[in-house]
Amino acid sequence: MSSQDIPEETPSSEQDHAHGAVAVKDPFADPGLPAHRPRVQDIDERAARRSERTVALLFTVSMLSTVAFIASYVIFPVDKIVYIWPFGHVSALNFALGITLGLALFCIGAGAVHWARTLMSDEERVDERHPIEAPPEVKAKVMADFAAGAEESGFGRRKLIRNTLFGALAMVPLSGVVLLRDLGPLPEDKLRHTLWAKGKQLINMNTNEPLRPEDVSVGSLTFAMPEGLSEHDHSFQTEIAKAALMIVRIQPEDIKDKRELEWSHEGIVAFSKICTHVGCPISLYEQQTHHVLCPCHQSTFDLSDGARVIFGPAGHPLPQLRIGVNDEGFLEALSDFDEPVGPAFWERG
Ligand code: FES
Repeated sequence: MSSQDIPEETPSSEQDHAHGAVAVKDPFADPGLPAHRPRVQDIDERAARRSERTVALLFTVSMLSTVAFIASYVIFPVDKIVYIWPFGHVSALNFALGITLGLALFCIGAGAVHWARTLMSDEERVDERHPIEAPPEVKAKVMADFAAGAEESGFGRRKLIRNTLFGALAMVPLSGVVLLRDLGPLPEDKLRHTLWAKGKQLINMNTNEPLRPEDVSVGSLTFAMPEGLSEHDHSFQTEIAKAALMIVRIQPEDIKDKRELEWSHEGIVAFSKICTHVGCPISLYEQQTHHVLCPCHQSTFDLSDGARVIFGPAGHPLPQLRIGVNDEGFLEALSDFDEPVGPAFWERG
């Protein structure tokens, strides 16, 4: 109910007389709405056009800022430092990204506010409260009001504003696309290959010496890495995480898997040390059963049977490296692994 519909509860003069009361103004009376004062844009079409151009300009600046954001990402090197008053020395890239993205978002907001304040209807209305479940005629009225609001906002009529707003909103998410570059370079096929190759000698990781067959005794577990890899190399951790080997010697007649026997040398077998579950280094060897146990989630592999998984969450046997002996009597690889090492999802990709 509007304020105008609410009667003020002022005692009648008869009652005044009867009770001798003095007329008191109701302190809770609805003061009503002030009279609507049209804005300059409501009465001057040229002023309305000026406002329309201002809104469109803000949305256009937003689009340009988004383009500048993407360009900054490409142009400025990560380590470029510049002096900008009053901030001092700052990263040129971070500064440019912050300014351009901030401007892109600000201009969309400022354009929307200016549009609402100058061109959309500013007439205030009072509606009575109604039940939450609106009757059909109210719904129809709402739809009619919505259509009227859309008409008054000029959303359909002012195509310049509408189109530039769509453009600005569509382009802002593009800023996030370039940030994907921060995830680093694509792995390409680096995860499918290791440093092992035909002729690479097996180096004992404890002594840093090339391994001879006689260095590997039955029941022992030896860890090996490819020759040429040094702990001082920049890429040591990356490479050893793929190339680390477990070397064990098993009596050839105890080896159940035919291919494992063919890829071994006099019962010496070399398997990846990296668990195929989620990549922990395996280190526990049970010499009686030839089982190795991953300490992370207890996956157990049988090294006498192609490193088959006999327990635990690992979904794939440990990859085997084919080995032999070179002319100098040292153990060497005869190829790289024939499948990716580590977590088995790589070969399903
Ligand atoms: S990483 Fe080896 S069992 Fe989980």
